[in-house]
Formats: sequence, C-alpha cells, structure tokens
Amino acid sequence: MTPSPSTRNDLFLRACAREPVPRAPVWIMRQAGRYLPEYRALRERHGFLEVCRTPDLAARVSAMPVERFPLDAAIVMSDILIPAIAMGADVEFAPGPVVARPISSAADAAALRVVDAEEELGFVHEAIRLLVERLGGRVPVIGFAGAPFTVAAYLVEGAGSRGFERVKSFLLREPAAAHDLLDRIARVTAAHLAAQRRAGASALMLFDTHASILAPEEFETFAAAYAARVLDALGGAAPRIYFAPGAPHALPRIARLGVEVVGVDFRVAIDEARRAVGPGVAIQGNLDPAVLLAPRATVTARTHDLLRANAGRPGHIVNLGHGILPDTPLENVEAFIAAVHEWTPAEVESA
Ligand code: CP3
Repeated sequence: MTPSPSTRNDLFLRACAREPVPRAPVWIMRQAGRYLPEYRALRERHGFLEVCRTPDLAARVSAMPVERFPLDAAIVMSDILIPAIAMGADVEFAPGPVVARPISSAADAAALRVVDAEEELGFVHEAIRLLVERLGGRVPVIGFAGAPFTVAAYLVEGAGSRGFERVKSFLLREPAAAHDLLDRIARVTAAHLAAQRRAGASALMLFDTHASILAPEEFETFAAAYAARVLDALGGAAPRIYFAPGAPHALPRIARLGVEVVGVDFRVAIDEARRAVGPGVAIQGNLDPAVLLAPRATVTARTHDLLRANAGRPGHIVNLGHGILPDTPLENVEAFIAAVHEWTPAEVESA
C-alpha cells in the first residue's frame, strides 16, 4: 500500500511541521462518535467491537464526520483497548471499557501475550487502507493507540476510575510486575502504530488519558518512560502527537519526549502551554468540549478567543481539549469549524 498518501488538504500536516498555513487546521477528538446521528443509527445494527473489528464498518464510521463537516483530518475508528483485547484481556464496552478479570499479580501480567500486531490487529490496518481509499486523499488519516500506562491502568483497575487506587497500589506493591506489564503493552503498541503508518496513516497519536493521576516519580517511571519507548520506536516517519489530559504540570517533561505535536487539554491556556513545551513543538487543542453545549454565539466567540490567544503562531492544530460530548448539537460542531475557517491572522492585528 502507499506508505505516504498524497493528500490534497495538507493543512494538518503542515501545522504538525510548524509551517505557516493560510488558516489553522481543525479536527475533533472523538469526531467519529455518538453525537453523530448516522453513527448512532449504525450502532443500532452493529455492536461497538463489531464496528471496530470490521474494516468496512470502521472505515465508514471514520469517514462520517469528514463527509458531514469540512474537517482537516480523519481518525481511524478503533479504541485504545483494542490491542489489549488482542493480547488476551477480556474487555467489554458499557460504553466505557470494563475488564472481566483485572490484572493483580505478576502471573496475570505474564499471561498477557505479546502478539504479532500485523496478524492480530490487521483489521485496524485494513480499516486505515479502506479509509485512505475512501477519502481519496481529501484529508490525512490519523492512526492512534493508548499509551502503555493508560492501557495498563484500565487492565489493573478493571474500568475507568477517579483515583485509580488499584493501579497506583499495584505500581508501588509490584513494580517488577508493573514493568513487565508495561513492557508487553509497549511492544505491541509500537508495532501496532508502525503498521498503521504502513497502512497509510499520515500521523500517529498516543493517548495517555490517565497519566495525570501519577505523582512526578511514577509519571516518569511508569508513564513517560514507556510512552518514550513507543514514540522512539516510531522515529520521525510520521508526525507523532502525545496527549496526556489533565497534566499541565507535566508539560515540560512531555516536551522532552521529542514529539512533533503535544496535545493540550482545556485546563491550561494555549499560550501558557506553548511556553511550557517551548519552541520546536506544535500544539493541538484546546477548547473545553462543554463550550459546544453553549449558544452558537458563545461557541464562535470562544473559538476566536482560542485563535487570538495563539496569535497566529505556526504549529497550532485546533481541536477540543478532550473528546466531544455525546449530546453536542450538530449546529455547534458546525459553528466551531466555521469559526476556525473564518478566522484569519489579519484579525490578530485588528483584535
Ligand atoms: O473519533 C475518534 O476519536 C475515533 C476513535 C476513538 C474511540 N476511542 C472510539 C470510541 C478514539 C481515539 C478513542 C480513544 C479512547 N478510548 C480514549 C482516549 C481518549 C480520551 O477520551 O482521553 C479512552 C480513554 C478510551 C476508552 C473508552 N472507550 C471510553 C472511556 C469509552 C466510553 C466513553 C466515550 O467517550 O464514548 C469508550 C468507548 C468508545 N470508544 C466509543 C467510541 C466511539 C463509544 C462506544 C459506543 O458506540 O457505545
């Protein structure tokens, strides 16, 4: 397959490279999801895992938001727990992940198989090939995975949680088992992302959704170190995006991961985030998804505030600061994207 598909709309990739662009690119985390009526209609006929495992369905769902809205990137339909399932974890979605037998010992960790990503996760790679074909190069496709710590957090905790006390105590009680678990996940994750790249993904995003629960010591040892292993293995073949929401305190450490793009959540101002990561890194984010529940004029104003705060600096990919909420009105998604399209750097001077 084409290793590097030529894309007609390359605003997203140019912004990843911090090149100047006529306007900032925009896409939305969880853009292929439940706020879309066509997604909900398809989900009435097909289970979530069935959609993820059927390349034709996954490609169709991934294309839904870009067929409806003038977005600048598509993201493949999958989930951060899909590789863990391939490794032997028993996971259901209700709608968040629920793990049948959470990991609590060294033996449990060792039972997780380091599978061949090409073989066991080929349906994701095939979905990317179909999606690239379906989009005909209209916009680039983003591949993704969960960062090892965040995937391990679900497997140990058994589900999402506020404080993740079980995973924290596992790290401190059984550090060797924790390292073994993270090592297994990191190996499969690196191979899975490399295969997504070969299948036609033009950028790769690593979600470290729950790294924010960790103290600096554990963040370094159990989150950053394993994210770095995955990211280093990918090299510079495609822009890499690392996103650890809720961890603005960790931005200086995150900058040292050496990624091309750092995802920023809504708890930190975009200009402050930029100062924290320093030059040489593009920023992705960070409108609070709740703003998209406000009146249309507020959506427009707050989106313009975000662009004004970035002050036209190259290397800004507009996004939400977390996944779009399921009850977001479609008109507000439209307003958000339109506000990005209509904003020109000239307005920075007149603002
Ligand atoms: O549009 C996209 O972003 C593409 C696909 C995607 C999904 N999950 C599909 C999905 C991506 C990139 C993810 C990442 C993901 N999954 C994360 C990291 C992002 C973040 O939120 O920080 C996490 C933590 C998960 C785990 C997960 N999977 C949760 C918490 C949930 C339920 C809550 C929710 O937001 O929907 C899921 C299920 C899930 N993953 C759905 C979708 C479309 C909904 C399932 C359904 O249709 O019932």
